[in-house]
Amino acid sequence: METLLAIVASYLIGSIPIGVLISRTKGVNIREHGSGNIGATNVWRTLGPVPGIIVLLLDMSKGVAAVLIGRHFGGTETELMAAFGALCGHSWSIFLTFKGGKIVATGAGVLLAISPAATLVALVVLLTTVGISRYVSLGSILAAVSVPISLYLLHMDGLYVLFGVLLMIFVIYKHRANIERILAGTEFKVGKGRRS
Ligand code: G3P
Repeated sequence: METLLAIVASYLIGSIPIGVLISRTKGVNIREHGSGNIGATNVWRTLGPVPGIIVLLLDMSKGVAAVLIGRHFGGTETELMAAFGALCGHSWSIFLTFKGGKIVATGAGVLLAISPAATLVALVVLLTTVGISRYVSLGSILAAVSVPISLYLLHMDGLYVLFGVLLMIFVIYKHRANIERILAGTEFKVGKGRRS
């Protein structure tokens, strides 16, 4: 019962469409701009760094909150199911007719609460990839790929490694339109107002 409660609460927290709400305070419907995504990257791209960073931090806090809720109510399984609930909420928000974001920031929050070391590795992978390619999406994908590898190398419990694999697959799945754009050479690049 407690596990179910943790999952539902985390799903609802994950569903809070931070990017949509912050953009709305600026009179912008973020889903009609840039990539159309509700995440920090598109908010930054559309409205600048301050709203972008606010969205990043608040979306991350949803992931942290979910892990803490799960941890409060049960063991590792409850923690990870709550985390997954938040990722599903962010991706298929009850407040956005079951549409949503690409779970990078919320996933980063989950990871931070689970393993700061793996988060640091993922951050380095992301920044290095973005620095070289200028594609945030590619950085997000490769950072996600690093997660299960880091968790494994850090000797985390097998459940965390399995969660890392699911997170990686989830992130790649959510970036399928970005992957198509990268292959077509039309993906957004950092520092450019329009596609390459
Ligand atoms: O966090 C999402 C990022 O990886 C891609 O965002 O707006 O370029 O699709 P966007």
